[in-house]
Amino acid sequence: MGEPVNVGVVGCGAISAQYLPTIDRLPRLRLVAVADLDLDRAREAVRPYPGVDVMTVPELMADPRVDVVLNLTVPAAHAEIALQAMAAGKDVYCEKPLAVTAADAERMLRAAGAAGVRVGCAPDTVLGTGTQTARKAIDDGLIGRPVAATATMMTPGHERWHPNPDFYYLPGGGPLMDMGPYYITSLVTLLGPVTSVVGAAGRTRAKRTIGSGPRRGEEIPVAVDTHVTGVLVHASGAMSTLVMSFDGAATTAPNMEVHGEEGSLVVPDPNHFDGPVRLSRVGEDGWRALPASAGYVEAARGVGLADFLSTPDGEEPRTSGTVAFHVLDVMESLLSSAGSGAAVTVTSTCARPRPVALGPAGGADHLS
Ligand SMILES: NC(=O)c1ccc[n+]([C@@H]2O[C@H](COP(=O)([O-])OP(=O)(O)OC[C@H]3O[C@@H](n4cnc5c(N)ncnc54)[C@H](O)[C@@H]3O)[C@@H](O)[C@H]2O)c1
Repeated sequence: MGEPVNVGVVGCGAISAQYLPTIDRLPRLRLVAVADLDLDRAREAVRPYPGVDVMTVPELMADPRVDVVLNLTVPAAHAEIALQAMAAGKDVYCEKPLAVTAADAERMLRAAGAAGVRVGCAPDTVLGTGTQTARKAIDDGLIGRPVAATATMMTPGHERWHPNPDFYYLPGGGPLMDMGPYYITSLVTLLGPVTSVVGAAGRTRAKRTIGSGPRRGEEIPVAVDTHVTGVLVHASGAMSTLVMSFDGAATTAPNMEVHGEEGSLVVPDPNHFDGPVRLSRVGEDGWRALPASAGYVEAARGVGLADFLSTPDGEEPRTSGTVAFHVLDVMESLLSSAGSGAAVTVTSTCARPRPVALGPAGGADHLS
């Protein structure tokens, strides 16, 4: 095992509380510095991790110890922070979506190429046993040729629980840009890249009311569609039907199903690492649970960063910027189709990310 990789985190809000314990736990990662526009928030975030330096963004970018910038800022800041890190010669791993627009994401990938640094992006939940066991079932032929999938995310909106939910209702937010990356990255992992989309979208109200924290009761504006539906046509010919909504109370629909000529799979919530995968084959009664057969076990947010950094030379990282760019392009195309009413051809593509063998997240095999 080589020297640990030094991580500098930019953005110490809600999701940082899930990343920092993972970085602390994995021997190949060492948290050296954190930065935020709000330095008090950064100080608070690293209170459990003595020895981690709190600094401004320019200081973190200039710190020669930092090998990789973990970009946990709000979507509108993803591109700006990533470009600063690249200009400083550092690898970058971003929270999702990669950027607010595909054009910004393309600029990021070009800048990374020019700087000779790598770009990775969430979600890493698809590396867990849920999506990976389903993928292995498909690859092993258990459902025959895949023909279709459904993906459903229905909630009344994140403003009920997030203390600063503004970004969910600004460009780069909404149910599609916020939750779509989990579902579409999982669909790309299971069924391969998407070549065209047709969509429809709408919004129920112009304002939302914050439901928790010090700003409880405050109204925030809604600048994005809050109910987005569509069909994704994969290069393989399979078709995925998507419903992403902040406008519904609840649902009993499965998060995801994949249907093949010989069988159907229930795929667990791609916003989680694990969960039961169930199979029903033509001619069999009912559903049977498949044991976890692939993916990182006991994973948590941050394993994708470790996986990204341990990618062997010459291989595409599983959580690569290329995959995230394609996923963003699919989402943007869906919104564009919803606006025009016409099908949209998706010009970007990516390879299906490499499968993950069953094993501990951050185990020696995966991170040495
Ligand atoms: N909250 C969640 O449950 C969750 C889950 C998965 C992914 N994410 C993703 O994580 C990212 C952050 O979400 P969050 O919920 O932690 O948001 P948040 O608003 O709680 O935190 C974001 C932090 O980034 C800081 N920030 C913003 N712009 C900055 C800049 N230019 N320079 C330095 N710091 C800056 C803010 O001050 C804030 O502390 C988003 O991309 C979101 O999609 C969030």
